[in-house]
Amino acid sequence: MTKTASAPITNLHVARDDDFSAAVLEGLGASPKRLYPRLLYDERGSRLFERICEQPEYYVTRVEMEVLRLEGRKIIDALDGEVDLIELGSGNSMKTRIILDHLSDRQGHFEYRPIDISEEILRKTSQEIQADYPNISVHGFVADFLAGLEFLKLKTSRQRLILFLGSNLGNFEYGEALEFLKQIRRGAVTGDWILLGIDMDKDPAVIEGAYNDAAGFTREFMLNLLDRINRELGGDFDRSGFQFRAEYNQAGQRMEIGVLSRRKQKVFLEEMDRTIRFSRGEWIEMEVSCKYTPGRLQWLLREAGLQTVRQVSDSRGWFTLNLCRVP
Ligand code: AVI
Repeated sequence: MTKTASAPITNLHVARDDDFSAAVLEGLGASPKRLYPRLLYDERGSRLFERICEQPEYYVTRVEMEVLRLEGRKIIDALDGEVDLIELGSGNSMKTRIILDHLSDRQGHFEYRPIDISEEILRKTSQEIQADYPNISVHGFVADFLAGLEFLKLKTSRQRLILFLGSNLGNFEYGEALEFLKQIRRGAVTGDWILLGIDMDKDPAVIEGAYNDAAGFTREFMLNLLDRINRELGGDFDRSGFQFRAEYNQAGQRMEIGVLSRRKQKVFLEEMDRTIRFSRGEWIEMEVSCKYTPGRLQWLLREAGLQTVRQVSDSRGWFTLNLCRVP
């Protein structure tokens, strides 16, 4: 049986329900229609994402893990002084354990503050980590990335190492990614560190395959958002009226993932007394997943005002971990 120990969880309930309905209305009222990727992560969506990470086609998690295993020690050795750890979008913290191990060897005690949108997964993970690492003080925070930035303002007694792994940055458009990094920088203080995991551009077939897993978890992850709208907003989306699509836009170096309306149809949202119309073939974008070239990544970090201290990757250069310092 997995051991657990109590770990405090803070949930500020930053207007979550209002946020969901407002974001759905805004996105489905826009042209082209767009549902923000953060809306994918209700409890079921968060569990589906965990399953995606285990699929053979989804190389992203596997390769990042490999880089952490091979190069994690080098990254921790590059830190000068002791740190506390903050993680944006911690999920099940599986990869983080490699960092927790190295930091435990190096400095003994430290704080670990995982921040995640799923309270269920955060609670479970925080308790397991607290049980497995009695030398660490774990305090979890429930928030999406944007609300999570607020928690960065809570100082700790040491310099902070802020983890943003899993290529989560890729789910922002390039301009939004730059703005987000600038906001992290504003929430950080001089001497803090940021470790960014970034999925790099590569053979389009490999990338496209990762988002079209044979077991269909990515498809289910997208269709679950239609179910979520039905559940939470009294919608009457008929799943069979929508077709999943995930394609690599090579010119834009990004995956575009969402659903197409198979026919002309209407969807009623009872909670808001609103009807949304779809034409045949109309696209609803649910997620982009941007991939980076070395040049674009370098530009992004520089524009965000971060100093790159160390960059490590796997032998094929598929995934990079970038240790940056806040000047
Ligand atoms: C969380 N994020 C980095 C994943 C990605 O690869 O863009 C989300 C995902 N969507 C479908 N599969 C994975």
